[in-house]
Amino acid sequence: MKTIVVDHPLAAARLTTIRDVRTDNATFRAALRELSLLLIYEATRHIETVDVQIMTPVAKTTGTALANPPLLVPVLRAGLGMAEASMALLPESQMGFVGLARDEETLLPRAYMESLPEDLKGRPVFVLDPMLATGGSLEHACGMLTSRGADQITVLCVLAAPEGLKKLEESGLPLTIITASIDERLNESGYIVPGLGDAGDRQFGAV
Ligand code: URA
Repeated sequence: MKTIVVDHPLAAARLTTIRDVRTDNATFRAALRELSLLLIYEATRHIETVDVQIMTPVAKTTGTALANPPLLVPVLRAGLGMAEASMALLPESQMGFVGLARDEETLLPRAYMESLPEDLKGRPVFVLDPMLATGGSLEHACGMLTSRGADQITVLCVLAAPEGLKKLEESGLPLTIITASIDERLNESGYIVPGLGDAGDRQFGAV
């Protein structure tokens, strides 16, 4: 598994805004969107391209198009805040959705929504979820993708905990992780420390 930490002053500044407890929901959503643009930019650095022949108003030239645009998959609900930014930078892409909830009996993640293409073989997939905490739900989401044949999965998260990275590494899934920070640890309630709190509540309010 490859892990890339986006080390850029703009990423650090937006991350500071969303970490700050004084940031209101609207400002949080705006900063998360901007940070997501930077994560997508990094995630697409080496995607496959093809040459295309075009005419400028002046002459013929060779341009570039995306050969195989990634399928974008926000994990509901917190991943919704990264969805619009990813479509803005990747208008060629399609979007699938995964909704995960915790089964109150087994305490394991359970999918309540799975809107994905049948066959993902050879198709790059970008999974959007701001928080890689224990790694349980992301492992489940990525397993749903590999069971449909996905073999190139990039997970874009704002924050990652070392515990979650270890779990995904041990899963053996074909993953690349792009994050803005690897934080210190998880606390006893499963929150990332120092973290940013509950990414869903910070965007949409505690409903
Ligand atoms: N999910 C969140 O929203 N925040 C955390 O700190 C951990 C998991």
